[in-house]
Amino acid sequence: MKFNHQTIEQNIGLMILLVVLTVSAGGLVEIVPLFFQKSTTEPVTGLKPYTALQLSGRDVYIREGCYNCHSQMVRPFRAETERYGPYSVAGEFVYDHPFQWGSKRTGPDLARVGGRYSDEWHRVHLNNPRDVVPESNMPGYPWLARSAVDPKGVAPKMKALSMVGVPYTEADIAGAEKEVAGKTEQDALIAYLQVLGTAVKAGSQVRVEIPAPARPQSADVSAQPKVSAAVAPAVK
Ligand code: HEC
Repeated sequence: MKFNHQTIEQNIGLMILLVVLTVSAGGLVEIVPLFFQKSTTEPVTGLKPYTALQLSGRDVYIREGCYNCHSQMVRPFRAETERYGPYSVAGEFVYDHPFQWGSKRTGPDLARVGGRYSDEWHRVHLNNPRDVVPESNMPGYPWLARSAVDPKGVAPKMKALSMVGVPYTEADIAGAEKEVAGKTEQDALIAYLQVLGTAVKAGSQVRVEIPAPARPQSADVSAQPKVSAAVAPAVK
């Protein structure tokens, strides 16, 4: 059997096998290094695990489907960083199981919403968004202000998260029930929203050095590369 294109294209079994092999090799080469890279596996400095109250709020966020309209990832484009703040880095999400990056943006990205508004603004907004943003089409969530967080539910979640590497201490877990006692789901959700993206705002953003365009460094003209006048770029 000659091993050429014709043989492969006329034998669907062989074709499938070779496609699977090629795609797996490509995938492994791209994905596996990310499991070992510091920038994707280590928390950014200043990142703290969610407190019991914030964690409860995160679960409300997931349960209510806020991710259907809100992403949590500022992409590294100027239009985004000017609107939302520093772009997101992987190290901000190492304690998120699962992360809430999303891609649907009916509403604005929420990755850096922490600290942007007061708790009171969020309260009014969550009860009825149109009270603060008249043209908003976000639904109201008034019942969150009336339903209590289940105090018994939090510690087991924190234990489960610590099994996958979130560094909760015994004391964090022991104090969880007390922390959320008497809090409403709205309190919890606001606590969660207020912490989003704040680890980086506090000054741990990874700096990206953009190399300056190549310019002659030396004042000594003879040291500069010789360029004929016709093609020399205009140096301002
Ligand atoms: C149907 C889509 C939709 C859903 C679902 C939704 N939102 Fe919104 N959200 C919006 C829109 C649109 C805006 C912009 C107008 C406004 O501020 O109300 C917004 C704005 C916001 C803002 C203000 C963001 C900013 O930077 O100004 C926050 C905070 C927010 N939403 C939180 C939530 C939370 C929490 C949930 C889930 C409980 C949620 N949203 C569910 C559409 C949605």
